[in-house]
Amino acid sequence: MNQATSQRVLRTAGLVLAGGLLSLVIALLVSGATEPLPLADPGPIVRWSQPIAKLILNLSMATTVGTLVLSAFAGNEAERARLRPLAAGSAALWLGAAALYFVLTYLSASGSEISYGPLFSEGLWLFATQIELGSLLAWNLAFAFVLSLTTLAFSDHRIIAVNAAIALAGLYPLAESGHASSDAGHALAVNSLLMHLVGISVWVGGLVALFAMLAGSGERNQVLVSRYSTLALLASVMVGVSGLTSGFIRLYSFADLLSPYGQVLIAKVALLVLLGFFGARYRVSLIANWSKSQASFWKLVGLELFIMGAAIGAGTALAATPLPENPKEFVPPTPAEILTGDPLPPELTELAWVTVWDVDILWLFVCGLGIFLYLFGVARLLRRGDSWPVGRTLSWVMGMLVLLYVTNGATNAYQEYLFSVHMVGHMILSMLVPVLLVPGAPVTLLSRVQTARKDGSWGLREWVLWAVHTPYAWFISHPLFAGLNFALSLVLFYYTPLFRWATEEHLGHQWMLVHFLITGYLFVQSLIGVDPQPHRPGYPVKLMLLIGTMAFHAFFGLGLMNEKSLLLADWFGSMGRTWGDDPLTDQALGGAFAWGVGEIPTIVITMIVVWQWSRSDDRERRRLDRASDRSGNKDLSDYNEMLAKLNSSKERGR
Ligand code: HEM
Repeated sequence: MNQATSQRVLRTAGLVLAGGLLSLVIALLVSGATEPLPLADPGPIVRWSQPIAKLILNLSMATTVGTLVLSAFAGNEAERARLRPLAAGSAALWLGAAALYFVLTYLSASGSEISYGPLFSEGLWLFATQIELGSLLAWNLAFAFVLSLTTLAFSDHRIIAVNAAIALAGLYPLAESGHASSDAGHALAVNSLLMHLVGISVWVGGLVALFAMLAGSGERNQVLVSRYSTLALLASVMVGVSGLTSGFIRLYSFADLLSPYGQVLIAKVALLVLLGFFGARYRVSLIANWSKSQASFWKLVGLELFIMGAAIGAGTALAATPLPENPKEFVPPTPAEILTGDPLPPELTELAWVTVWDVDILWLFVCGLGIFLYLFGVARLLRRGDSWPVGRTLSWVMGMLVLLYVTNGATNAYQEYLFSVHMVGHMILSMLVPVLLVPGAPVTLLSRVQTARKDGSWGLREWVLWAVHTPYAWFISHPLFAGLNFALSLVLFYYTPLFRWATEEHLGHQWMLVHFLITGYLFVQSLIGVDPQPHRPGYPVKLMLLIGTMAFHAFFGLGLMNEKSLLLADWFGSMGRTWGDDPLTDQALGGAFAWGVGEIPTIVITMIVVWQWSRSDDRERRRLDRASDRSGNKDLSDYNEMLAKLNSSKERGR
């Protein structure tokens, strides 16, 4: 890194750190979060250095994620090489800050003093392995450790994307810790904070990388700035939506807005609105008139980085600030609250399938984005004068709406309490949603809407087309693998500890949703997919696979219906439900749903396969007819000639 660049990096770091420290100190003083603790007070040094370490952790994490994402999606080879020292440097800083924050949190949680004896390291080890908060911080540290090595060791474009994925995954443990770790509304708290941290990291980290390493006046900078600006727009919406959601679930009344926690929250909303003005100014005028306004653009970016630092400082203080008092704090929890953290939903009636919702902001955002980007793509195609089958659009939008319902509607509200509803959700997710999404042909739409990049950088189009042509994609999209994976996943999931993990742990539940969605998508794509794929099995093979799957679903469902014991007795059997079927009857009902609900999409796929088969036969016949017409029915005359020859040789034989 040459001297000018390192000075620029220091200046950028100075801007965000100054904003961060200033607002952190003010917010901590306002909220009283660093006041001495009534019991086991760790002392002022730990009380102040812990949030400061967390601030540096948040800033270095954001810079690592943002730099890697910008590198993977916006930069060409030369720009990726220029960004590499920043990615490696911030990953190393992340590692240091995560280690310091881990030790300070241990001191604060245990009230013990720093010492160099075996007792202290044993305590640290216990904290990392036996205490949930400790193990989450240890995981964050582990991700930072891996990244600090891989960002240094590898420069290949694809490894940069893998590093970006590792860095994003490294945010998860922090989303599970802190205020989000409390049981009540745990799923929503974790998903909204994760969405918040991902949005902040791409938005702030991307701008840090752009300002520190790629600032300049040329046309190329305009390209980079507008690519970043698209990422920033999406990220800022994520930050706003998830921040308001996180804030909303932590306040129990309007009056709580006046609590120290509420006051810092209001300050953050104000900072976000201010940052919104910056973004609008860039997009509306500065980027468009780049040659004239690039100098004022970079000046404004400097100020924006300071304010972003301030917002991160306020966020860090918020995480350290005690929550407003929960009016139900001392109400004894029900069995359902002890198990799930949330009260039992109202009795499941027909109407409840429509009226009872348990919103998951992350999946709501994913489905909304899936619909918005698809319609945006179709609109761009039509504006260009190209056509796109309306059936595909309707099918895709329906698929996303059904996914939205499964992850936010009654299936999400009741799946923790009723095995039958869990199974309905599972079957819709792994069968019905893919049957609607696959005909939408998203890969074809993307490759037609986005023009190929010619500057050596990879955008979404390049990454998707690369991914679907990898040997891994070849293997998992093979109909045989897709069919086996689809069928065996069901048995492996319910008859191994995976089911308990997915029922009791938030991460397990999210994994289940993603796994079964992808498994169903691969299976349906291999049978009726419109998008390009490496395998084209014959229709008879497809029908055999479908019959096999149908039979398998029937056996699986029947097996569950005849189960004499509960799969998770200490969960579904201990909910304290006073309405609906008893847990074993409910489990049998779940088996019936696995059979019934699972078969409906399978029948739909079978009908589509038979229809595609008949259409391909028609197409073949028409092709042969056209060829015959072109050759003046030469094939027909050849055939008749052959028959005549056969006849004459028979005649001769007699
Ligand atoms: C509508 C505006 C926003 C709201 C309502 C909001 C709300 C929140 C809430 C409720 C939390 C969780 C704190 C806790 O653990 O209790 C949080 C965390 C955080 N916010 Fe925001 N936020 C907003 C905007 C921003 C912006 C613009 C940034 C930075 C650019 C930001 C940075 C952070 C950070 C870094 C954390 C994590 C703190 C930590 O766990 O150490 N927030 N925010």
